[in-house]
Amino acid sequence: MTILVTGGTGYIGTHTVIELLEAGQEVVIVDNLINSSIEALHRVESISGKSVSFYQGDVLNKAFLQKVFTDHDIQSVIHFAGLKAVGESVVQPLRYYENNVTGTLVLCEVMAENGVKNLVFSSSATVYGDPASLPITEAFPTAATNPYGQSKLMVEHILKDLHQADPSWNIARLRYFNPVGAHPSGRIGEDPNDIPNNLMPFIAQVAVGKRETLSIFGDDYNTHDGTGVRDYIHVVDLAIGHLRALDRLSTNPGIVTYNLGTGQGYSVIDMVKAFEKASGKTINYQIVDRRPGDIAACYADTQKAHNELNWRATHGIDEMASSSWHWQSSNPNGYSD
Ligand code: NAD
Ligand code: UD1
Repeated sequence: MTILVTGGTGYIGTHTVIELLEAGQEVVIVDNLINSSIEALHRVESISGKSVSFYQGDVLNKAFLQKVFTDHDIQSVIHFAGLKAVGESVVQPLRYYENNVTGTLVLCEVMAENGVKNLVFSSSATVYGDPASLPITEAFPTAATNPYGQSKLMVEHILKDLHQADPSWNIARLRYFNPVGAHPSGRIGEDPNDIPNNLMPFIAQVAVGKRETLSIFGDDYNTHDGTGVRDYIHVVDLAIGHLRALDRLSTNPGIVTYNLGTGQGYSVIDMVKAFEKASGKTINYQIVDRRPGDIAACYADTQKAHNELNWRATHGIDEMASSSWHWQSSNPNGYSD
């Protein structure tokens, strides 16, 4: 089977492509490299010992995408390509809506024109806003508080309407919780361009000496130690969830929505401690004000994915921390090393 992976040189994309190649699938990647490096692709090919067809270009470019579909007999698409920085989305809303929403529209148009109607879409737990209770099931109400989250929610709605209009579409909307960790080889991982916005890459950069101090955004939340609680999921588990979603669509056509998380919440301090244990380094931190827009706690009910995808996260917090450290310490400057 040939699978098109948009955004396939990015953090989650690379890990998913490795799993696809290991499962014997042919992979075509489309990526404009706006937030990734061609070196990531070279490493994916070296780790897997297999080659990938790579097209550098933008999902907003219909003629370009059309050529990819003409060149290859694509059966399914995993759509990772998108911009993901929440703060940036507040400053540049039009860019985020165009990239994430229009990009998906163009992709779906080209898919439809080529009779390809199997799609796995990267959504986010951010669509749950501030949940009324925990754990979060897929049936919870959705609400977005920033343009990034809105763009994910809009695409979720568009895909629902698309399936309603044409039930021959098979669509999985996967709501990721907090992806962390790296491939066990230590050769691919998360490589933020700038100062990391997210917790784990920031901790990793403090541990490796690139940053002095982690700022912990608030210790007065109603959680076990006062710091924010999240459902961190190892990126390899997350990647495997995409293969299970493709399997599901092939046996049970339709539109489906799944939480991909572990079901376990860890605080910022828990993550710092796990990282200190994995790295043998001390993570300097200071408590600062809460980050606007943050919620106290968020973790998934994973029963639906377990029952219907036969999928469950298997990596625990120690493997998340040790694999992050393996990647970060082997590549202190990411792919530019
Ligand atoms: P990433 O930035 O590492 O990967 C996204 C890839 O898409 C990058 O390689 C980028 O160059 C590419 N891209 C962006 N816009 C493009 C366009 N218009 N055309 C072609 N390529 C384009 O991000 P990631 O962490 O791997 O996330 C993948 C997807 O999962 C994104 O849609 C993101 O919103 C979603 N997601 C990520 C997280 C997370 O914490 N990492 C959480 C929930 C959802
Ligand atoms: C953030 C985004 C969310 C997105 C997700 C994955 C916001 C408000 N939410 O989620 O939309 O889907 O990333 O990309 O940006 N923390 C610190 N210090 C730091 C960084 C983080 O204390 O330097 C804390 C946060 O307050 C939070 C936890 O660590 O409690 C996790 O933060 P982060 O990794 O940014 O993820 P989310 O906020 O869950």
